[in-house]
Amino acid sequence: MLKSYFNTRTKFLDEALKQYLNYEDLEPERLYQAINYSVFSGGKRLRPVLFFATYEMIKLSNDLEKIKPLLPVAAALEMVHTASLIHDDLPALDDSNERRGQPSCHVKFDPATAILAGDSLLTKAFEMLTLYENKEVALYLVQLMCNAVSTRGMIGGQTVDVLSSDKQVLQLNILRYVHSKKTGSLLDAAIRMACACADADYTLTQTLSTYAMNLGHAYQIIDDILDDVGDFETLGKDPFEDVKNNKTTYPTIMGLDKARKMADKLLDDSYKLVKNMKNNENLLEFVNMVKDRLP
Ligand code: IPE
Ligand code: IPE
Ligand code: MG
Ligand code: MG
Ligand code: MG
Repeated sequence: MLKSYFNTRTKFLDEALKQYLNYEDLEPERLYQAINYSVFSGGKRLRPVLFFATYEMIKLSNDLEKIKPLLPVAAALEMVHTASLIHDDLPALDDSNERRGQPSCHVKFDPATAILAGDSLLTKAFEMLTLYENKEVALYLVQLMCNAVSTRGMIGGQTVDVLSSDKQVLQLNILRYVHSKKTGSLLDAAIRMACACADADYTLTQTLSTYAMNLGHAYQIIDDILDDVGDFETLGKDPFEDVKNNKTTYPTIMGLDKARKMADKLLDDSYKLVKNMKNNENLLEFVNMVKDRLP
């Protein structure tokens, strides 16, 4: 179920992304190439698919035509995500040479181009949000994205992550902050944007937001575990980077077993939150899919 859902929605999004990125952005060529290289290098498109799945669950719908108006918003989520990964890999941050089994953007091109490609994608994402047809909702989507990305969101989390590497062992509550900000924020934004577009009420939005935050927290714990156990295939890049960068992770604080249990528990909590909702198959499967990444 989720696999065919994923395939159709991803294909739909990719066609739209190609159009949006071809519009006006063909020059300077090197920048255009770097943007396209990173956007179309095999990302799983988790955030846009989660966004579609949440909207379609609330609307009790399963019709590609009906999510067409959502395409700019889905594209915005993927653009921000791609920008975050391009910058995350830079020598000044994680210094990762590989991403999705291929050279990172700054390796394939150069650090300056990678910085600028990330900047362009991040900016373009906000333009995408303004294209949403209901302009009142569009304005709210911009606010949601600002919260998810800014000092209060992903960038805040990335900053604490980078500043604390090499220097100190983080306390568990700070590590929880880093994970929820750097990874949870954008998943939460995907859910909140779906709720806004589907006109969901406050209670449903809060419940789904908790689902997303747990999912994001677990996703990052599992990413850290995969890095720690050296699972190249699932990661699509060189493992043992967190050790190289002296990062505090759940495995380093509590050991692999407890970290696994923690991720498991967070995912169980997410599952329970949507278990009794109508048309919930994709959101439930989403949890299972994240769980399947656990080595
Ligand atoms: C990778 O995210 C970064 C983390 C938050 C751990 P994804 O696993 O969603 O990356 P892609 O886009 O599918 O490569
Ligand atoms: C990435 O966390 C989070 C963001 C890019 C916002 P990581 O640094 O652990 O992600 P990977 O392991 O490089 O994919
Ligand atoms: Mg990082
Ligand atoms: Mg990294
Ligand atoms: Mg990682």
